[in-house]
Amino acid sequence: MKKLFAFLLLSALFLLVACSDSSSNNQKDSKEKAVSSQEESKEVNLYTSRHYDVDDKLYKEFEKETGIKVNIIKGEPDELLERIKREGKSTKADLFLTADVARLYRAKEDGLLQVISSNTLNKQVPKKFQDTDQMWYGLTKRARVIVYNKETVKPEELSTYEALTEAQWKNRVLIRGAENVYNQSLLASFIEISGEQKAKEWASGLVTNFARNPEGGDRDQAKAITAGIGDVAIMNTYYYGQMLNSTDPEEVKVAESLGVFFPNQETTGTHVNISGAGVIKTSKNKDNAVRLLEYLTAPAAQTVFAETNYEYPVNPEATSSELLKSWGEFKEQDIPLSTLGDHNAKAVMIFNEVGWK
Ligand code: FE2
Repeated sequence: MKKLFAFLLLSALFLLVACSDSSSNNQKDSKEKAVSSQEESKEVNLYTSRHYDVDDKLYKEFEKETGIKVNIIKGEPDELLERIKREGKSTKADLFLTADVARLYRAKEDGLLQVISSNTLNKQVPKKFQDTDQMWYGLTKRARVIVYNKETVKPEELSTYEALTEAQWKNRVLIRGAENVYNQSLLASFIEISGEQKAKEWASGLVTNFARNPEGGDRDQAKAITAGIGDVAIMNTYYYGQMLNSTDPEEVKVAESLGVFFPNQETTGTHVNISGAGVIKTSKNKDNAVRLLEYLTAPAAQTVFAETNYEYPVNPEATSSELLKSWGEFKEQDIPLSTLGDHNAKAVMIFNEVGWK
């Protein structure tokens, strides 16, 4: 009986301790919750398909300057969009950042973005590089240019994208595949400027002049020139800049053997695309997301993009890099970038019809 009493006493004591412990745990929990909800307003969740070191450096600077922590989730753009859709209202995503306007357009069409109202953004980003409803803003510009073998091609022989369909370029043109969104946006720009028929003639004519079936990325087209597979390639300027400044001596050698040509200067202008971002509809940190966008489009960050990643600033107040300046000023296509999204599906169809793989 004594034993039973002792046991009961011990059990009661244990329970008491356990209860008081759990109540202090509860208190701790609720304290932590309070802190984390404060922290929530001091963070921004970024879903990005960009893969450049310069971005991470800029986010760190932003954190230092504002105390807002940038949580980064990287992935392929379509995967990120699918993820945001799948996660629905419970998604943590505040900001979607990607390297092509067609995907920003898709995010908007799919109802994933919300209107941003920021005078700072409207001042820093020209209208042409914004969504018509202010659901996304451009961060950097990239020109899709012609690079050529300096030994086999004289710049005087080059003029327009269209001229690359002429007989003299048979078996000499390199460009990546039709599944690539940069090419889809390029063709979409021709649909906007010259109509569907002309755009289709161009795509079909270029296929006729392909040096090989498309393979690899933009850099691989440049390398194929040096390998003697073709003489001209269509590629984005920043890849060329990255190759020139690469730590891989082979890439430097390739880039140094090439010239850069900005096509359509006398006509419709060189094709430009943007990297850009939009705020997710269900964002819980909208102010922080907008603040990050404002930071990235301010002159200081814009100059960093130009100097370390060789992308053109969208903000006209920002200074460009020496390398970009050395390529000279150029005339851009004069179309709102949102039209590239409008014509994306049509562009994909044309590629399919003309057998651009
Ligand atoms: Fe790229």
